[in-house]
Amino acid sequence: MFFITFEGIDQSGKSTQLELLAESCAAADIDALTVREPGGTPLGEGIRKMLLGPEHEGMDPWAEALLYAAARAQLVRDVIRPALGSGRIVLSDRYIDSSLVYQGIARGLGVERILDLNLGATGGLMPDLTLILHLDVTGSRERLAARGEGGDRIEGEPLEFHQQVEAGYRQLEEMYPARLVGIDAGVTVEEVHAAVVAACRERLGLEIEPAPVST
Ligand code: TYD
Repeated sequence: MFFITFEGIDQSGKSTQLELLAESCAAADIDALTVREPGGTPLGEGIRKMLLGPEHEGMDPWAEALLYAAARAQLVRDVIRPALGSGRIVLSDRYIDSSLVYQGIARGLGVERILDLNLGATGGLMPDLTLILHLDVTGSRERLAARGEGGDRIEGEPLEFHQQVEAGYRQLEEMYPARLVGIDAGVTVEEVHAAVVAACRERLGLEIEPAPVST
């Protein structure tokens, strides 16, 4: 069935929105599987630890890009394709566009080269719809500080890196307008969810209603 991905800078609320969309689908009797990247398979979770642990500070950008692609290859083959094949919707917290933006743009490896790498790794599986949650970087830093945690290796990158990521998402949106929908994430959870549901209805014809948001 449909493959829907959520993208955005850290703290943009992707996980919350993904769970709410899964609830909307469940209420409409639509079977949806949720996954997150990097991870979702034993190999992928191992790679996740390598990628996000602070001990690998200074990791080579190509090593980083290849590790994300490796985790993705396993997730697509073992989890995403079987689920789509059995008629389920798959909702993923990040996918190829994260690599295009973080590795291709912010790390400077090039969007085309990272796209090629990932098309190879996934057998060309692209999402039917990608929802980009836009949040300005200051907002993201504030949410991170409010959480009171130090953040992982990527979250610990300097402000400019995150600004490049946010600008990169806007650039991608212009490159792929048919697949990507940008949503302002600087408003309430309920408002963002309503925009997500509207995009799924309009772009994919999904007959879903917004799920109640508990406050
Ligand atoms: P995670 O804790 O899942 O962050 P978030 O909750 O913001 O999604 O960590 C994923 C981190 O990895 C995040 O900082 C973005 C980065 N990333 C890449 O650089 N490239 C990729 O291809 C993916 C999937 C993630």
